[in-house]
Amino acid sequence: MEGLCKAFGDNVVLDRFDLTLYEGENLVVLGKSGSGKSVLIKCIIGLLRPDSGRIEVFGENVPDLNYTELDQMRARVGFLFQSNALYDSMTVRENLEFPLRRHWLKTPQQDVDERVHEVLQSVGLAHATEMMPAELSGGMRKRIALART
Ligand SMILES: Nc1ncnc2c1ncn2[C@@H]1O[C@H](COP(=O)(O)OP(=O)(O)OP(=O)(O)O)[C@@H](O)[C@H]1O
Ligand SMILES: [Mg+2]
Repeated sequence: MEGLCKAFGDNVVLDRFDLTLYEGENLVVLGKSGSGKSVLIKCIIGLLRPDSGRIEVFGENVPDLNYTELDQMRARVGFLFQSNALYDSMTVRENLEFPLRRHWLKTPQQDVDERVHEVLQSVGLAHATEMMPAELSGGMRKRIALART
């Protein structure tokens, strides 16, 4: 990204921010609470629109993408919300099925079931499949959100 600027009224959060992330590199963004980490990451995924600057993901400038192109880009990116963003009225299973159904409309139910089981096992929560988010601890909710990602 180059020259990224984002302000909310008088609150200038990102001021000509530059960053290059190389293929295969792991990057941790560290900073004080309220310093703009989440705003930065939301700009990368197109959940917030920067006031100016370029953000290139998979060779495309994110602020230029239309709704459909953003959708396609997001299907290739894992994004874990800070407050998880689980759907309160859905079970854990339904929360995990949701993005699969949204992005891969014709996936057979058996494949969806296998995928959901596999990711829940990978976070040690296979037993929580039919639970509601409100019944989970904070750490469990975070692991379910990671499994959905
Ligand atoms: N949608 C919004 N509307 C107005 N101001 C916002 C919005 N989102 C974030 N801000 C402001 O932008 C600044 C940076 O917020 P951000 O959420 O990026 O912080 P952070 O670095 O992720 O903090 P934390 O470590 O607490 O998660 C804060 O001053 C916050 O009040
Ligand atoms: Mg944050």
